[in-house]
Amino acid sequence: MKAGQVFKQPDLAKTLQLISDKGAKGFYEGETADLIAKSMEGHGLITKRDLKDYKAVWRQPITASWNGYRVITAPPPSSGGVGLVQLLKMKADLKDKFQDVPLDSAQYIHLVAEIEKRVFADRAQYLGNPDFYKVPVAQLINDDYILKRAQEVNPDKPSDTKSVQPGLGTSMPEKAETTHFSVVDKWDNAVSNTYTINGYFGSGVIAEGTGIVLNDEMDDFASKPGVPNMFGVVGSDANSIAPKKRPLSSMTPTVLTKDDKVAMVIGTPGGSRIFTSIFQVISNVYDFNMPLPEAVGATRFHHQLLPPDTIYQEPYHQLDPEVIKQLEAKGYKFTMQGFNGDIQAIRINGDTSEPMSDPRGRGVSRVIQ
Ligand code: DON
Repeated sequence: MKAGQVFKQPDLAKTLQLISDKGAKGFYEGETADLIAKSMEGHGLITKRDLKDYKAVWRQPITASWNGYRVITAPPPSSGGVGLVQLLKMKADLKDKFQDVPLDSAQYIHLVAEIEKRVFADRAQYLGNPDFYKVPVAQLINDDYILKRAQEVNPDKPSDTKSVQPGLGTSMPEKAETTHFSVVDKWDNAVSNTYTINGYFGSGVIAEGTGIVLNDEMDDFASKPGVPNMFGVVGSDANSIAPKKRPLSSMTPTVLTKDDKVAMVIGTPGGSRIFTSIFQVISNVYDFNMPLPEAVGATRFHHQLLPPDTIYQEPYHQLDPEVIKQLEAKGYKFTMQGFNGDIQAIRINGDTSEPMSDPRGRGVSRVIQ
């Protein structure tokens, strides 16, 4: 192009003219659709059918009150509206901290970054297309919730990234890998059932026509001595791959009985965290005499030899910073992990059955009379 030369886009002009004449049909059908589909052949996936089936969708906007204004903004599948409302309101909640802080000062940038961190933690967990996933919009822009998030902001230094977790902890979706259920009936029959496809959606492959997701259980073998698997655990020849061999599992469906009567049914997903989680809950109930709900809700931690001296803690119930300091002085390191089990347990206490689903997950427990 030279200065002064007139820039023309005749193809685009023709397309815009078709849209002007025929509305949406000028784009999604007819000549334009033919051309798009043709240009996709061999290296793209948009077909004429896709174009014809495409429909614009009317969505209710998000509305919120802020600073005397009514904010009307974009709903999912954009994360923008939720993000904007959270940012505006968190900043308003922190007005004491923002008081007299100049716009482009280090302190201002730090405070805004702290807020943004929390918005993005929620975005990563809860935002998606609402036609496919129930986005908890009302909860995410609830004033009390946003205030609680704002109060987590550390005005002095960046909070540790791993500690910034999605804030609606209990609405964690069901895990897409391992599942546990516990059942006891009135005749004292008990079932503790854990089943696994291992990683998220197993191998990601469905045996066509069956609806069955194929697992990726090969990862539970030690692929090579000393090489960690997806849960960070290592193995030796004892768990090497061999024909017809089943891999080493950590699944721990468990029933406790006393005097030949069922006392507890318990289990959880969690890979190598499975049996350390179950151990902690059983110990909380029987050694620390906690009621089952408290025992399941109590903080859990995990150590698995490797990485060396590393203790995993969990976002749901973090350890006391003072305790962490004492252990760090002994040489331990602390790492936050996103998931530390999803216990489903039933305790039979005399004549009453007390079921408890982990508040970390979204399982539910019922006594059906
Ligand atoms: O059998 C095992 O130990 C693993 N396949 C379990 C994987 C698992 O629990 C993943 N879930 N969070």
